[in-house]
Amino acid sequence: MILTLTPNPCVDKTVWIERLEPGRPVRGERCDCVAGGKGCNVSKAVRQLGGATMCALVVGGHTGRYVAELLEERHKVSVAPLWVEASTRTITTVLECEKHRQTAIFEPGSAVTDEEAECIHDQFLGILDALRENEPHAPLTVTLNGTVPDAKLRNLYARLIPELKRRKVFVLLDSHGPEFAEGLKAAPDAIKPNRQEVEELLGMPLDSEETLKNALTQLHEMGVELAVITDGVNGAAVSRREGGRFQQLRAIPPQVEEINSIGSGDCFVGGLVHALQIGQSLEDAVRLASACGASNASHWDIGALNREEILRLVPQIRIEPL
Ligand SMILES: Nc1ncnc2c1ncn2[C@@H]1O[C@H](COP(=O)(O)OP(=O)(O)OP(=O)(O)O)[C@@H](O)[C@H]1O
Ligand SMILES: [Mg+2]
Repeated sequence: MILTLTPNPCVDKTVWIERLEPGRPVRGERCDCVAGGKGCNVSKAVRQLGGATMCALVVGGHTGRYVAELLEERHKVSVAPLWVEASTRTITTVLECEKHRQTAIFEPGSAVTDEEAECIHDQFLGILDALRENEPHAPLTVTLNGTVPDAKLRNLYARLIPELKRRKVFVLLDSHGPEFAEGLKAAPDAIKPNRQEVEELLGMPLDSEETLKNALTQLHEMGVELAVITDGVNGAAVSRREGGRFQQLRAIPPQVEEINSIGSGDCFVGGLVHALQIGQSLEDAVRLASACGASNASHWDIGALNREEILRLVPQIRIEPL
């Protein structure tokens, strides 16, 4: 079972238009809404790969109910809602057909009260404990995904990680900014930031093999056992420490026509944790993860992966020593 947590989901709305002219009304040709949020994408990917997953979401209002409904009905993903008073945000992307240009408008994340922040923490652990109780011997992985909607939740990951580790749950953190830095202090088992996120975290450019290896070493020193740094079309650098030994590799994806690479990191995470949970080797897990990322990049819809396409891409991933 892979339980994902998305503290800051959204209704992800796309409006297709001919051309954007600021200050003028524009008529849309087509409009579509999907459930947005990083953990949602991880769960969608795991589901497509045939794994069991549950998606815990901080949601509120009718937009919150809509996100949950979209996930359950379109993607057949089980949802565990963590209700708050404020409505879940909508992100509207305007897609100009002529120029193939996209402009996204982000509403602010929902504010939470102190009491709600406490409830989110406790309820999430309650969901986890119920899953454990149902299937005491099944392996359990938790992924903590993305940003938090309110500064009151800034230490959510940092508080959850020790609880998860105490329960012997494998935990992967994929976030950025203060909540990522805070969460890292609690030493999650695994992390999957992208290159830019690590550059911000460590305050240094990753522009050579040497700086990349140095960054991976620093991440291990923070207590992380499996560190993955992805870099879009350039692939991923992976480093696992087991006891005192290191396994390091680089995965290079095949060329695909990139349509929309947003969410490729999340699909990578979905592929990675699914493969590791079913006992695949690190190398095979990274192959599957990279194929999921590449497949996502070659479609407009985020996280709507196709299993056959992924299986076709897997043998095309090149693995090299780092
Ligand atoms: N254009 C592409 N072609 C092939 N593979 C890609 C492409 N873009 C991404 N990938 C694959 O997906 C992985 C993750 O992509 P990326 O580094 O862009 O993630 P990210 O920035 O964390 O994305 P997000 O946070 O939006 O999910 C890459 O390491 C690569 O394997
Ligand atoms: Mg990412």
